[in-house]
Order: sequence, then structure tokens, then C-alpha cells
Amino acid sequence: MSDRVGVLGATGSVGQAVVQTLEDRGYDVYPAAGSAHEEYPAVDIRNRGAIQPFLEHVDSLVNAAGLVGIDACRSRPDAAFEINAAGASNVAWACVRADVPLVHLSSVATIGDPDEFPITATTSRNPTTTYGRTKLAGERAVRTLTDGRVPSVTFCVTNVYGDGESVVDYFLERAAAGEDLPVHRPGTQERDLIHVHDVASGIATAVDRLAEADSIARSYVLGRGVSYSVLEIAGLVAHAHNASTGSPGGIELRERPNPNSPVVDRFDVDLERVRSALGVEPARDLEEWIEVKLERRLECRNRVR
Ligand SMILES: NC(=O)c1ccc[n+]([C@@H]2O[C@H](COP(=O)([O-])OP(=O)(O)OC[C@H]3O[C@@H](n4cnc5c(N)ncnc54)[C@H](OP(=O)(O)O)[C@@H]3O)[C@@H](O)[C@H]2O)c1
Repeated sequence: MSDRVGVLGATGSVGQAVVQTLEDRGYDVYPAAGSAHEEYPAVDIRNRGAIQPFLEHVDSLVNAAGLVGIDACRSRPDAAFEINAAGASNVAWACVRADVPLVHLSSVATIGDPDEFPITATTSRNPTTTYGRTKLAGERAVRTLTDGRVPSVTFCVTNVYGDGESVVDYFLERAAAGEDLPVHRPGTQERDLIHVHDVASGIATAVDRLAEADSIARSYVLGRGVSYSVLEIAGLVAHAHNASTGSPGGIELRERPNPNSPVVDRFDVDLERVRSALGVEPARDLEEWIEVKLERRLECRNRVR
């Protein structure tokens, strides 16, 4: 086991969970922020010269840094390229030069509208957004640069929830405030949702295995293996609201902001490879989490009233 693990993007929602999980597993963790931060040093992955000295302190590296989200990347396309594509490439190159194994995070946004099911890491990639395109460029750079040189694992992660910016977190916030849940038509678009701590545990397990891994670039889809339509997710939150307060939460169907974008009606992912190769088994239950989290949010609101 490599004891010292660097985590880039440690201030992000995934990065924070990764730091906590690695510490719980007994690693000596070296977190780095992307920008000035009181607790952690900043390592800007756009600057290759900043990554190299950071790697001197670590035996393996997790790259959880990124410019995340379709809207964020649409409004800052150059930054999306510099961080998700060129930045990931800088990280991979620095790892090769320093002989440091790497766990990198990509996204199923690289797939676009899938043409085969279930989705695996070899499903063809046709990203339709700047986020997806820049993440794909980064993922391919990591694979190309590390393969045959240092061990690397890239996780193509589905939609992450758990106190972050997911559709579930958004619906919970609205429901706790007594507001309707807006769903873009037709509402049948599907998401596989994985809890942030399941993502962190998958990453920590990959780190556990890196020390004895051969220098091959490996990629896995990491999700929960259960998909829900957005309308179903809203229904679960509205149902939990009804169970807690006795008043059903409203769901409001709205027109889509980008009516020409494809509606992805099916999104089932195959976890067999990540299960058999790494023993990763995401287990947190979305419905249970919605109930517990909504209850807590409602209690909090009642307390401040
Ligand atoms: N959240 C999801 O649903 C999801 C789904 C699939 C894949 N992923 C992937 O998982 C990774 C982490 O996502 P997240 O949700 O944790 O994102 P997040 O909460 O937005 O955090 C992004 C992290 O990246 C850091 N960062 C930004 N620009 C940087 C730069 N130039 N150099 C170094 N660090 C930089 C940020 O640091 P500062 O804030 O300190 O600047 C922050 O720590 C990303 O690669 C993302 O593509 C996320």
C-alpha cells in the first residue's frame, strides 16, 4: 500500500469525501485546493510547474480537480478546456515524470446520447456539451500518457449526489422550503445517481490497489447501477415531503431550456467490470437518503423559525 496520497481538487464535493475516506483508511493524505484556501495549499493544474513539486511528497495521486457542470463549462469554455482537458493532461504527464500512480475522475457526460446498453467504459463517446468534450479530451490524455508508464485508473462517474449540486440536492432544498419541484419536459430523461461517499470509497479502493498494479491505464464506469427518470426523482422527494409534513409537494413541468438537446430516456450502467476488477460495490440507497435528508432539512428550518 502506498501511504502518502495527494488529492487535487480537495475542496470540491468529491475531493472532500475522498480526503475523509482515505484518512479513515489510514492514509497520510496531502490535500490541495485549486485556488487560495486557508487550510490547504493551492495547486493549479493549469500550471504544470506547480504539480511536479507537489508530487515529491506523495506515493499516489487522486485528481478530483475540474470545472464541473454543463452550464459552468458553457459559460467559461476556455477555462473548461484549460482545466478539464489541458489540466488533466498536465497531471498525467507530471505523474509519468514522477512515477506516481494516478486515479483520475471523468464523467458520463463524455458519452452524450448512448447508442448501446448497458453503458460501460467502452461505450462510444459522442459528447454534446463543452463539459463532456473537455472531460473526454482529459480522459483520453490520461489514458494515452500513462498507459505502459505508470498505473492509472480513470472512473467515468455518473451523477453524484450528497450535499452537492445534483438534481436530488436541488429538489430537497426546494421541498424543504415548501416550493414546487420544477421538472423539464418530458421528465422521462434518466439519471444514474451515486452518493458522493460511494464515489469516494471506489476511489479509495482503487488507491488501495494501485501500489501493486501494473503500468496499465484502466477505465471503469462508476455509478449506482439504478437509474431514475427526473420525474421519478421529483416524485420520491414529493412523497417524502408528504410523509413528513402531511402536505404533498407540487411538481411543475416546465419547457426545456435547450429544446434541441437529446432526451436521454435510458441510462443503465454496467458495474460488473468495476465490481470484478476492483471489488467496488456502491451501496447507498437513494430513497432512504432522500427521506433522512429531507427530515433533517425540515427540522433545521423549524428550529430557525
Ligand atoms: N459532481 C458530479 O456530479 C460529477 C459527476 C461525474 C464526474 N465528476 C467529476 O468529479 C470531479 C470532482 O467533481 P466535484 O463535483 O467535486 O466538483 P466541485 O465540487 O466543483 O470541485 C471542483 C474542485 O476542482 C478544483 N479546481 C478547479 N479548478 C482548478 C484548477 N485550475 N486547478 C486545481 N484544482 C481546481 C476546485 O478547487 P477550488 O474550489 O479550491 O478552486 C475544487 O476543489 C470532476 O473531475 C468532475 O468532472 C463529478
